[in-house]
Amino acid sequence: MKKEEALRVLRDRGQEQLLRFYDELSPSERDNLIGQIERIDWETVALFDHPEDLTGKGRIAPLKGLDVGEIAQRKAEFLSVGKAAIGAGKVGAVLLAGGQGTRLGSDAPKGTFNVGITRTVSIFERLMCNLKESNSVCDATVPLYIMTSEKNDRETRAFFEQNAYFGYPASEVKFFVQETAPCVGTDGKILLEEKGKIASSPNGNGGWYASLLQAGLGEDLDKRGVEWLNVFAVDNVLQRIADPVFVGATIAEGVNCGAKVVRKTCPEERVGVLCLEDGAPNIIEYYEIPKETAAARDERGELLYPYGVILNYLFRVSRLKEMEKARIPVHVVKKKIPCLDEAGNPIMPQTENGYKFETLILDMVRLMGNCLPYEVVREREFAPIKNKTGTDSVESARELLARNGVEL
Ligand code: UTP
Repeated sequence: MKKEEALRVLRDRGQEQLLRFYDELSPSERDNLIGQIERIDWETVALFDHPEDLTGKGRIAPLKGLDVGEIAQRKAEFLSVGKAAIGAGKVGAVLLAGGQGTRLGSDAPKGTFNVGITRTVSIFERLMCNLKESNSVCDATVPLYIMTSEKNDRETRAFFEQNAYFGYPASEVKFFVQETAPCVGTDGKILLEEKGKIASSPNGNGGWYASLLQAGLGEDLDKRGVEWLNVFAVDNVLQRIADPVFVGATIAEGVNCGAKVVRKTCPEERVGVLCLEDGAPNIIEYYEIPKETAAARDERGELLYPYGVILNYLFRVSRLKEMEKARIPVHVVKKKIPCLDEAGNPIMPQTENGYKFETLILDMVRLMGNCLPYEVVREREFAPIKNKTGTDSVESARELLARNGVEL
């Protein structure tokens, strides 16, 4: 593509501001910018003007899960099924580490964050310890796939290398980079991060399977005979990964997907709620669930919609393959986006100044057709680090780690 053609493409879409500083760029910067323009997914950008209606309209109903009591009663059965599957190499793990961790306010990959007090303990180290624990119970080495983003891939890989993969065999750890989407201002115009660089961001955690395939790792799954993938967030330092009891329960119940959940502390708690919508599993975000639904109780006084998701799912690979071409909805989310102003000066916004386009893993659960809510004890398995202080913060996670006997 030449400048004239790029200009025509941009004019047709009212986006010619992207070439505002073209004449100031070096020849290689110019080529690079034109390349970025060529790769813009205009269908996604058009969602700014015509966003999909993502508020559930279907009939919401409770989804029966396995509660802590039932899991305890059937633990031996689940453990034996899970151990057999993990021991036979049928389970892989996927760490979602492509997020930007803006709430934590650090530019480094979130997993490199030090949660230690008297010694250095990175988030990645905690997660690898948790995974190794499951491995030792099952006498296996679960292959680990780590999703990074263009922004943090190099640093993440280097961190694993510097730390000798935290004692994990390097051959069992594979990295892949998730795709990005352009960011737009509140007027829908695509923003520039530098004079020759479009502002872009990772396209949300719902793109993990497509990005894994894009990186050629589908073959790796097939070669190894991986039938289940345990997908988990980078920021929950207490979670069990490739937990054999969870794996066994999901397999024994014959579903395509299992979701670790915690019992909500109150109807208003800000967690996504796992339920049914028109008969299919669905996760409703806390800001979308009607108040009366969130507060509804059964005859024993228990919440009808008690299960909050913690972003730890088990997906059946054959179902993922069947749904490979299915479209995952794109959410248009207001965020703070560093960019250039019209004069080319960099802006570090203090308030939201634009939108990112993101797909969410919770929308994948619906595509699985069915899902088992699997309750875990919050104090033992849920210590997310989202913020610097307060709720779901470094402070609260440190306290929970200490309570679980982890030396910091
Ligand atoms: P969050 O929704 O907490 O987003 O991600 P975040 O980017 O880490 O943090 P904030 O909102 O900017 O503060 C939940 C999980 O999904 C991953 C994150 O790395 C985390 O493990 N994620 C999120 C991705 O892998 N890619 C994305 O594009 C977004």
